[in-house]
Amino acid sequence: MIRKLSIWTAAHFAAVAVMAIAQTTTPSAAQQPGAGDPAQIDQGKVTYAQKCSHCHGPNMVNSGTITPDLRTVPDDKARFITTVKLGKSGKMPPWGDLLSDDQIADLWAYVSSRRNP
Ligand code: HEC
Repeated sequence: MIRKLSIWTAAHFAAVAVMAIAQTTTPSAAQQPGAGDPAQIDQGKVTYAQKCSHCHGPNMVNSGTITPDLRTVPDDKARFITTVKLGKSGKMPPWGDLLSDDQIADLWAYVSSRRNP
């Protein structure tokens, strides 16, 4: 009885191991282009809270009357990067000297993850 159980347990572990390998070789939805990398989104969320939330609203929620509601910005990464780096109309500050390209890419991942046009 004990012997039978241990063989079953070994088989079970083998099956779990096979599944784990299959999972690491099959790209998950999050790794596919456009879906947004969860680590990038998390990092973007932190940068947003530090640099952007006092104007654009906590968690990107604001009425959109004074500053644009970032949940509705166009799905245009190049435009986003340009606006964030250079600023806009003297009201949106330029961030090109303060944030790295990676930080801006993370911000885009975060903003994209919350798009609600
Ligand atoms: C001092 C307040 C302020 C801060 C801080 C700020 N913004 Fe803005 N942002 C604005 C205002 C005001 C506008 C609208 C400018 C205009 O169109 O006249 C704007 C516009 C934008 C736009 C353009 C939206 C569009 O329609 O294309 C984006 C994108 C944006 N901000 C992202 C960010 C990000 C990301 C951060 C943080 C790194 C940030 N902003 C920080 C005030 C701010």
